[in-house]
Amino acid sequence: MKIKDINLAEEGEKKIKWASNFMPILNSIKKDFENRKPFKNIKIGMCLHIEAKTAFLAETLKAGGAVIRITGSNPLSTQDDICAALVKKGIDVYAWHGLNEKEYYENIEKVMEFLPEIIIDDGADIIAYAHKKKVQPKGGCEETTTGVIRLKALEREKKLKFPIINVNDAYCKHLFDNRHGTGQSTLDGIMRTTNIILAGKNVVIAGYGWVGRGIALRARGMGANVVITEVDKIKALEAYMDGFKVMTMENAAKIGDIFVTATGCRDVVTEKHFRLMKDNVILCNSGHFNIEIDVETLEKLPKRDARKNITEYNFNGKRIYLLGEGRLVNLACADGHAIEIMDMSFGIQALSAEYILTNDLIPKVYNVPKEIDYKVARIKIDSLGITIDQLTEAQKKYLESWEEGT
Ligand code: ADE
Repeated sequence: MKIKDINLAEEGEKKIKWASNFMPILNSIKKDFENRKPFKNIKIGMCLHIEAKTAFLAETLKAGGAVIRITGSNPLSTQDDICAALVKKGIDVYAWHGLNEKEYYENIEKVMEFLPEIIIDDGADIIAYAHKKKVQPKGGCEETTTGVIRLKALEREKKLKFPIINVNDAYCKHLFDNRHGTGQSTLDGIMRTTNIILAGKNVVIAGYGWVGRGIALRARGMGANVVITEVDKIKALEAYMDGFKVMTMENAAKIGDIFVTATGCRDVVTEKHFRLMKDNVILCNSGHFNIEIDVETLEKLPKRDARKNITEYNFNGKRIYLLGEGRLVNLACADGHAIEIMDMSFGIQALSAEYILTNDLIPKVYNVPKEIDYKVARIKIDSLGITIDQLTEAQKKYLESWEEGT
């Protein structure tokens, strides 16, 4: 175990307890795991954003008998009070807020030394590491778009060594987490950190995937003038038809007040854009890695701490503010996605981990089985007290038939 301060445990425990009050799916799975102990003495290695909801996932797996070692998937998303609370719950933690790159990989190494049978990852750093170090778990689960892209590249190159469940592409994950989760948590990060109003601001969003769509939807709801930049012609058209202005980053740079990158790519906002920007602009990132905004160039400029989590750079007399060092603004500057959203995502994670254990899978990136997606949807919908219609036998037959309806 290596954390910042065990004395922070009480505060962490309060946060976890609070989150668990709004997590009907994980509570239901936890109860079931407690009875069945599907992970009895199974070692699970986790590399996730260590905040309250993640802690409750770890607790849920532990309730099923798992022995867990966990590290953080981003230097700025780890919450030290949560790490302390996890240790008190008997979970082996190697993580602290603000660690450097060397420490980050040392902690990943610690999780690998534990020889986990199942890996749960966010961004594919630990799965990639397992491949380099030739560690051979039974399988892994990947949480996010960027991680899945990396793992599909491994698969394409025929280098994938163990099965992976692509949690990201489950409906109960990306439709809610990537869109509504990031939509709200990104604005939460910006608003908590800056305390500025969004109404009337020109908010430039780079990327119109699920994440960009969610941020655009919520920013519009707050009264912002939303501009989308895209490289994909169909997504650009979708943004246009959804009622947003679409233009190049070069043109958007001249008018934007707030810039949010959500492309999953690199070099999206660079020096040529900084040159064109107005004074007093705010930049932040909601993509997995901190390479969407050219932080390296900014770091060569005169700078000062403007406020907690805000660095002010002086670009030829113009002020450019960067939130959370260009890392995931929703986690570096806030608490990540809303609790109810992570309940769905982590419900899929917990059930996918059991699926790996109980099935003989080959090295391949698997989609989450439909039954898991629907199980999570059912628990959620029941917990909301929503009832929905059922198909009649005649309707079922009609939907399975090729003959004209009568
Ligand atoms: N909390 C834990 N993991 C998260 C993630 N991948 N995105 C947002 N919030 C989170």
